[in-house]
Amino acid sequence: MKRLIYSLLLSIVSSVLPLQHAQAEAAPPRPPRQGNGLALTPPMGWNTWNKFGCNVSETLIKQAADSMVSNGMRDAGYEYIVIDDCWQVGRDKEGNILPDPVRFPSGMKALGEYIHSKGLKFGIYSDGGSLTCGKRPGSLGHEYQDARKYAEWGVDYLKYDWCSTYDQNAKATYENISDALRATGRPIVLSICEWGLHKPWEWGKNVGNLWRTTDDIYDHWQGIRTFEHGVMDILDLQVGLEIYAGPGHWNDPDMLEVGNGKMSFEEYKSHFSLWAILAAPLMAGNDLANMSEETKFILTNKEVIAIDQDVLGIQGKRVFKNGDLEVWARPLKGGGRAIVLLNRSLTTQAITVDWEMLNLPEQLSMKVRDLWQKKNLAKAKGSFTADVLSHGVVMLRLDL
Ligand code: GAL
Repeated sequence: MKRLIYSLLLSIVSSVLPLQHAQAEAAPPRPPRQGNGLALTPPMGWNTWNKFGCNVSETLIKQAADSMVSNGMRDAGYEYIVIDDCWQVGRDKEGNILPDPVRFPSGMKALGEYIHSKGLKFGIYSDGGSLTCGKRPGSLGHEYQDARKYAEWGVDYLKYDWCSTYDQNAKATYENISDALRATGRPIVLSICEWGLHKPWEWGKNVGNLWRTTDDIYDHWQGIRTFEHGVMDILDLQVGLEIYAGPGHWNDPDMLEVGNGKMSFEEYKSHFSLWAILAAPLMAGNDLANMSEETKFILTNKEVIAIDQDVLGIQGKRVFKNGDLEVWARPLKGGGRAIVLLNRSLTTQAITVDWEMLNLPEQLSMKVRDLWQKKNLAKAKGSFTADVLSHGVVMLRLDL
């Protein structure tokens, strides 16, 4: 009997012990984070910041949505209307974020409904620190609460900035908001905006859908000033990052300046063509309600947009550079190539794309289409040369 009690006790103790041991162990590692399945081609839309800064309002947003429909941008593929910084003024006593009641009198839910009624999607902005760059309340400590609020308002896209973050860990900060957005159950694109400081291309893939690679763009061809880069300066910083982009996760060289007035028609065409070859998000940043025919011509060029949106999602790269003359190339579905011949110099120059730069046989005959002239040129074998205007591009599609 004693023996029986003893062995019973032993079996109870041994069945409990491993459990206690297991409880003392660290939690099992979480399964690797998966992408959210959104933005399989680079997001396209419009954002308030480049033109309007903090001057945002419900009237402006509605007007932009109306214009996007009437000027053909929606039909050309633009989708997200994003309110950048300064829409928020504080928090209520439960900690809920409060939109500016004067500028957004109907509230964000109604605004989201308006945007959706136009067949467009609704984007908003916050920050991973205590304050946004415009010194409005950031989401630090309110990530899940804010994400729930955005979902309630029908938000489809969140740009998440990096001001007032001090010694926060960038990856952890963005993972936190990424998880909070997913927990809402609503599909929300996450735009990581930490200016490339912590190499987001190395960890952003399954955290967000796009990540800024640099400081802010400004409406300028070339030249760096405090926290701001010209188009050519940003372009140079994209070299080497092409390996990190793909469907659902894109390098973001910042929003478009096309139509904001400080660059020439040629320069804006170059800016747009290069962003398309880079598989960059195409977020217009101009005044949609008052835009020139030239701006509209650029922003709605469907053949250039088709390059940006190519389903393979392979970011193009620089394949040739000789001083101010460059060739950029991007492989396309079906075996074709998109080409940008870029002339940074002050005079017209002839630029050649050689098939060797594209790893194609010299004997190959390719169809050539000029995407800005919108016409087919003669077939080319081995190479193609064109005169390119100062600060301009010739953009081509080569097909077998
Ligand atoms: C910057 C960001 C800009 C804009 C601005 C708003 O940090 O890079 O794109 O969002 O903040 O204050």
